[in-house]
Amino acid sequence: MKKLKLLSILMVIGMMFLISCTKEGEVGPAGADGIAGTNGTNGTNGVAISAADQAAYDAASALRGGLYYNKFYVDATTGANLATVDPIVTSNADFFRCKSCHGWDLLGSNGQYISRGPTATRPNIAPNNLNVYAATHDIKQIFDAVKHSGGRQKTSTDKSLNSNMPDYSLLMTDAQVWDIVKFLKEGRINYDKMYELKTTGTYPSSTSVTDMYGNTLTGYVLNNVGNVAGTTGDAVAGKAYYDAKCAVCHGTDGKDLASFPVGLLGRTKNAEMLHIVKYGLPGKSMWSTINYNITETEMINLNKALSDTLVFPN
Ligand code: HEC
Ligand code: HEC
Repeated sequence: MKKLKLLSILMVIGMMFLISCTKEGEVGPAGADGIAGTNGTNGTNGVAISAADQAAYDAASALRGGLYYNKFYVDATTGANLATVDPIVTSNADFFRCKSCHGWDLLGSNGQYISRGPTATRPNIAPNNLNVYAATHDIKQIFDAVKHSGGRQKTSTDKSLNSNMPDYSLLMTDAQVWDIVKFLKEGRINYDKMYELKTTGTYPSSTSVTDMYGNTLTGYVLNNVGNVAGTTGDAVAGKAYYDAKCAVCHGTDGKDLASFPVGLLGRTKNAEMLHIVKYGLPGKSMWSTINYNITETEMINLNKALSDTLVFPN
């Protein structure tokens, strides 16, 4: 009984710690150019969701939103760059893609990108947890936060590149923003069900990551994320899904497209792999055919199947 009580007190403290660690609406760290600057307004009104807002949300597509989270400047069907996009975006894409600042797992600098420091061609990783943000804010608040009017400007006179969130009112249509809102609100993947990510240290100097089996992987760097997919799930069902949906292009062992062994990607860049499988890969034949609306169970099973290095070698 005493133990239980202690445990629940510890859990409450743990929850409070988690909540206090959740950073909301704070100004991002300075980019490679050292300019912190000011960020735009966040959606903190929470006042009214108009009928027009609700209608736009209802008409939006979470799958398209997931694609835009990766690359908002492409046509969702053809994958071609939209003619309307400023070339500075397409030639400095990492300063504009949501995933470059917030991570595939939406955990920002507390997730798989914990050691991805800034360089001349990519920004700092943002500290916010977008999973928590999306779960705790209404659609209008999320819309305002994503649109980010007044954020880093991207006009003909100001083309600064830093770690501040861009002003997407200059870069996207409202319909695109609503697609992303729907993705964040109800389309995002629950990666907690796919793997357990344990990290040590703080951004960007994390030195080790533990995979779900407790293996400590030192020298943790981007593209070498230490999760091993699939403790749960049905490997036979996952392989059947793979054979039906993927083998035609990737081969039965996942190695037909030489630079992208599917098993290796599943084991080392899990969040990216699953995001691409669910939302498509703009500009590649994958997008047009892959939009299967894969279910969570199918993802868990696929993950499990891909964890087998004999069936899906590196
Ligand atoms: C260059 C880096 C960068 C890019 C690109 C970027 N963001 Fe952000 N984002 C930030 C930073 C830094 C913050 C926190 C400071 C702020 O609110 O401005 C933030 C805040 C947010 C918030 C509010 C979260 C909170 O806790 O208040 C949301 C939602 C969000 N971003 C979504 C997106 C989406 C969706 C995209 C792509 C369309 C995107 N961001 C692109 C850096 C970026
Ligand atoms: C119609 C052909 C096709 C099908 C079907 C297909 N893919 Fe792909 N996939 C591709 C192509 C093309 C690429 C890109 C290779 C490149 O960039 O050169 C790719 C890339 C990938 C990547 C790497 C993406 C990255 O950038 O990191 C992964 C992972 C992947 N596919 C997994 C899958 C899985 C899992 C399935 C089944 C659910 C699947 N693919 C079905 C054609 C296909």
